[in-house]
Amino acid sequence: MHHYGANVFQMKYSQADVSRAVLDGLKAAVILVGADRRVIFMNPAAEGLLDTSTQRGFGRDVLDLLPMGMTLQGALIAAEEGATTTLREEALQGPMQAEGVTVDCTVSPIDYGTDGPCMIVELSPVDQLARMTRETTLHESQGAFSQVARALAHEIKNPLGGIRGAAQLLDAELSDKDLREYTRIITHETDRLNGLVDRLTGGYGASQRESFNLHSVLEHVRKLTQVETPEGLEFDRDYDPSIPDILGDHAQMTQAVLNVVRNAVQAMEGRGCIRLRTRVRRQCTIHHARHRLAVEASITDNGPGIDPSLKERIFFPMVTGRPDGTGLGLALTQEIISRHGGLIACTSQPGETAFTLLLPVGAKT
Ligand SMILES: Nc1ncnc2c1ncn2[C@@H]1O[C@H](COP(=O)(O)OP(=O)(O)OP(=O)(O)O)[C@@H](O)[C@H]1O
Ligand SMILES: [Mg+2]
Repeated sequence: MHHYGANVFQMKYSQADVSRAVLDGLKAAVILVGADRRVIFMNPAAEGLLDTSTQRGFGRDVLDLLPMGMTLQGALIAAEEGATTTLREEALQGPMQAEGVTVDCTVSPIDYGTDGPCMIVELSPVDQLARMTRETTLHESQGAFSQVARALAHEIKNPLGGIRGAAQLLDAELSDKDLREYTRIITHETDRLNGLVDRLTGGYGASQRESFNLHSVLEHVRKLTQVETPEGLEFDRDYDPSIPDILGDHAQMTQAVLNVVRNAVQAMEGRGCIRLRTRVRRQCTIHHARHRLAVEASITDNGPGIDPSLKERIFFPMVTGRPDGTGLGLALTQEIISRHGGLIACTSQPGETAFTLLLPVGAKT
């Protein structure tokens, strides 16, 4: 094979040309914004999307060019303060846009230029059809889920009563305080499950609305999992202590997170590392609603990854890759997260599978 010398190679591909080619070839629209929020550069995808040219757009206020109003303004302010914001499924409509386009938009600060903060605005159009199909199937899958939940609730409540009764009898017989810790866990967990089943079948109105911190949920799940799988499992915690409390149902949220963590433990066959990470997110869009503040939590395992043939469907009920699985865990998790007004997403490759929750805090803006 023929190799260029490093210098020849560098000459053949000048960095400026390469950067240019990358920007030209990108499907995402990229806009560089300089001091006073004025447009400095647009790549061809941005010119196409906004139906203008860099020449015509140059020096204009990005807010005029991108009719997204307050949401974009919020993201620009955040970028000026050094934070990156992603706005999901924003409608783009205005004089330059004949028909509405929906985009995901990320605004990040960059280090460029000297007179004032610079930002990059990235826009990727969301395929309308794909989005509608996604939302419809989601909706249908949740309807199917309610029916399954009702049938299962019946099957779950009877044995739970038996387990709780037996644990109490056992507790009365035990003199060792350490052992009674275990019966206490059994009773506590059966109560929690019982309450959960009641709420699941009792409809939306029955959920509790209390204020709690997501760390208490994560810590509860972590301790519980460590009791269940004492050896070979490691937890790596990366908590942002400043995350605000959220409003919702603590027991349901615990179940939602537990389902995800249990899947991770099962995928890793009890050996591996689970990373729990929390962050504050500002100015984000969840289910078309703008939120000033949200909490993001991710649960990442270093197991084998999700079977590619299941990847698109894991949140649907009855989809399972395990011989003894019911395929309800993630469907239930998704249901609970969406009742809390939040989102759950997943990325997976061998050695790194991450489930990310985004939960709104307080009132919508
Ligand atoms: N962290 C993970 N790593 C690898 N595969 C996963 C992971 N999480 C979920 N999966 C895959 O997704 C499938 C669906 O998960 P889900 O929790 O919905 O059902 P289940 O675990 O099979 O059954 P259940 O939770 O009802 O007992 C799992 O069977 C598994 O194949
Ligand atoms: Mg599961």
